[in-house]
Amino acid sequence: MQQKIFSGVQPTGNIHLGNYLGALRNWVKLQDEYDTIYCIVDLHAMTVEYDPDELERNRVDTAKVLLALGVDPDRSLLYTQSQVPGHAELAWILGTMMPMGVLNRMTQFKEKTAGGTASNLGLYSYPVLMAADILLHHANLVPVGDDQRQHIEVTRDLAERFNNKFGDTFPIPEGYIPETSARVMSFTDPTTKMSKSDPQVKSRISVLDDPDVIRKRIRSAVTDSDPEVRYDVAEKPGIANLLEIMSACSGDSIDVLVDEYGSGGYGAFKDAVADAVIAEVEPVKNRYKALNNGDVRNVLRSSGIRANESALGYMDEARRATGLKGY
Ligand code: AMP
Ligand code: TRP
Repeated sequence: MQQKIFSGVQPTGNIHLGNYLGALRNWVKLQDEYDTIYCIVDLHAMTVEYDPDELERNRVDTAKVLLALGVDPDRSLLYTQSQVPGHAELAWILGTMMPMGVLNRMTQFKEKTAGGTASNLGLYSYPVLMAADILLHHANLVPVGDDQRQHIEVTRDLAERFNNKFGDTFPIPEGYIPETSARVMSFTDPTTKMSKSDPQVKSRISVLDDPDVIRKRIRSAVTDSDPEVRYDVAEKPGIANLLEIMSACSGDSIDVLVDEYGSGGYGAFKDAVADAVIAEVEPVKNRYKALNNGDVRNVLRSSGIRANESALGYMDEARRATGLKGY
């Protein structure tokens, strides 16, 4: 049977270069070869303080950006998590098999709560819902950025626990993580990852930003005072980040880039990085502008119906296995 791809993105604002190079570019690429299912994970977005009207706007807007990036509704399902009740139901079942000791070690929860996010049960069990997302569709590969490695491990672990206890039900999924740019760093602090929730707007580039904004952000990216362009994450995290970004956008290896820009100074190198990023994201904005919200909602509606139909069969199997046979 054809391998299945599943991945999710939170509808929490502008899609940035990290989302794109770490994950979303692969979403688009994998459509050529696989059965692809992509989900806007609105239930996950509810685990932090949010405004309902904004959530609704962000769901449609995130779908619009994904379509503009090249997610093709004729080849992929693109829907919101809350349209398919199986996500939450399977999360409950998997939650009963999830040791609290494992959840207590989750770095994302620790980082979020240490950063001031109020903790709640949903935030704590976030990885269980993510595992349910992936297992609900019997996915084999999950294109994500580096920050999701631990969550993929939990998903594999839960699938194994379930299969051992109730019989072979779920395929054991694997992460699909790019070799370069799996962790795009902030332009204002290159030791932390680029993030939608960073209060410093200058830390990131949105895939919809104008070329002059992109160039300004890259020119002002924090680097170091030694003028040599070389790849050294510990000593030169800002330059290492820009090398990874440029390599991902231009297709040239980091070695080739170091040969070319090594001694030419940071100014010329940053301009070249800006050119490569602009060339990569420029078409997105035009496609985004050409889409209207009504059409986007139609895509979500019809994909949601199809995703639900396919999930119902798998959910029925999981229910029977766990002793919840229907009457
Ligand atoms: P999120 O915005 O947290 O829902 O992330 C959506 C996707 O983008 C996930 O696959 C993340 O792993 C990926 N991602 C988020 N931030 C970055 C980053 N700074 N670098 C690379 N990938 C990222
Ligand atoms: N946790 C992911 C993130 O923050 C989003 C997500 C939710 C996801 N469910 C998923 C990613 C299932 C891949 C597969 O980026």
